[in-house]
Amino acid sequence: MRILRHPAQAPPADRRRPGRAAWGLALLLVWLALPTLAQQPGAVDIPPILSPDDIHHPVVAHRGMVATQKSEASEVGLEILQRGGNAVDAAVAVGFALAVVLPRAGNLGGGGFLLFHHAADNETFAVDYREMAPAAADRDMFLTADGGVHPERSSFTHQASGVPGTVAGLTYALERWGTLSLADVLAPSIRLAEEGFVVTQDLAANLEVKRPLFSRFPSTMAIFFKADGSPYRVGERLVQKDLAWSLRQLAEHGADAFYRGAIAQRLVDDMARHDGLITMQDLASYEVKLRNPVRGSYRGYKVVSMPPPSSGGVHLIQMLNILEGFPLDVWGHNSADTMHHMAETMKMAYADRSQHLGDADFWPVPVGGLTSKAYAAQQRRQIDPFRSRPSSSLSAGQPAPFESSETTHFSVIDGSGNAVSNTYTLNLSYGSRIVAAGTGILLNNEMDDFSSKPGVPNAYGLVGGEANAISAGKRPLSSMTPTIVLRGGEVFLVTGSPGGSRIITTVLQILLNVIDHEMNIASATHAPRMHHQWLPDELRVEQGMSPDSLRLLAAKGHRVVIRSAMGGTQSILRRDGVLFAATDPRRPDGQAAGY
Ligand code: GLY
Repeated sequence: MRILRHPAQAPPADRRRPGRAAWGLALLLVWLALPTLAQQPGAVDIPPILSPDDIHHPVVAHRGMVATQKSEASEVGLEILQRGGNAVDAAVAVGFALAVVLPRAGNLGGGGFLLFHHAADNETFAVDYREMAPAAADRDMFLTADGGVHPERSSFTHQASGVPGTVAGLTYALERWGTLSLADVLAPSIRLAEEGFVVTQDLAANLEVKRPLFSRFPSTMAIFFKADGSPYRVGERLVQKDLAWSLRQLAEHGADAFYRGAIAQRLVDDMARHDGLITMQDLASYEVKLRNPVRGSYRGYKVVSMPPPSSGGVHLIQMLNILEGFPLDVWGHNSADTMHHMAETMKMAYADRSQHLGDADFWPVPVGGLTSKAYAAQQRRQIDPFRSRPSSSLSAGQPAPFESSETTHFSVIDGSGNAVSNTYTLNLSYGSRIVAAGTGILLNNEMDDFSSKPGVPNAYGLVGGEANAISAGKRPLSSMTPTIVLRGGEVFLVTGSPGGSRIITTVLQILLNVIDHEMNIASATHAPRMHHQWLPDELRVEQGMSPDSLRLLAAKGHRVVIRSAMGGTQSILRRDGVLFAATDPRRPDGQAAGY
């Protein structure tokens, strides 16, 4: 990691490198530790990936790597890779495993986005398995008789659920690119659900916090608390028999079990009993969409990410395009100048997001314009290096929502250089908190990611634009940003994060930390983060920022607020065939596992 310098003290680029002695030592150690790397001519002509000077060190492996938010899921993925499965086999197994061991965000009853880079063809695919609004959904379904927004209907009722896409998305990827059978990749999850997994401190505490909400739904209490209502203690096993039944149905009958068969029937029965909208016809009509990823470039790297209905990829590339014109490396990581230019850039991107982004199958999203270098150049010229521009002076779109932070991401690379970057979610932590009776499946509350009433905040302060109004069959706008960075036609970085509206800026900072600030992937992950989303007009920072930077930012007119940690990245960096991975310490229980 580079030493922070005030811009005025920044030496010219050729003098910013470590001294010859430090380089010599670093090179010697890398040479000794990583023979594969050392044999590559020119292997250290780009930012260092590992140096003995670093405080934080990534997990290193040579063939395959899996990084997830829960160690059991990482072990499942690793086991699949070691048995000869490819990145898609491992990713699908991880996706099902997280539904068991990370119930707050891993899921069968939600949706998400999967990016797959196929090394042999040098091609990247974007699988959209976001939830769809049921046929009976309509624009005003969450409004009260007097035209207000109902405070809870879009979050904690059966009507809050979009038609889930996870099972369709994971099985689509497996059928198209995997090499193992669905039963094979489901086997570890069935075991984890049937035999249980060990409750950690984090899970025990989290379930207790959620007790008041869960207690409204007996079917949910029955899964996450004991029969007498007492909690599972740290070290005890959480067994999920109903979820095991659902997973076995999938192993025996494939995705049809979920969309047409026995699971579908139980989901729909539960909906019918509770005024929910999802019907057998909705489930049978669910469609995975194979989309063109959004693509951009940043300082010689190719960036591939998720297109609408996620806003993530579009605004990641928009922000990179703007920032490419600034010498962030000279200004230094988290210096006031760097943070000021990042904040001004973020503001413009989020202002655009609120106005232009929605499901592109329903609304004309100007993806090409927003991700063009020409537009970025025009936006860059609007940045005053000395003053923060008030959000009120930016375009008159609608504020970006504060979305939930309970999503989860996982990254996988296999020995052939194939990579999967997957982010999926139930929306809020444990989604609607409703388990559909007899399935063990938590239902998403993704309908809340639509704009219930464009332009008007709901009970949680969420406001959105016309582009994201509710419509039958439409997919709600997302911020999920599964991303793959390529260099010389090969995967260089696989990353992504939970964090609601902070996802996009979190992923941005992983890229900037690696590319501009020459951090190894562990340092890039651990470094304190910042976020500005246009409205509210505040620069949100994590603890650990230099007070001097924050003072200088305040002097430029920023309203700086120190808040809780943001994001929870799972990243793998690959160089010269060596894999370096980091799980984000902001979320306990994660693991990067490789071989
Ligand atoms: N529900 C959070 C997101 O899709 O970004």
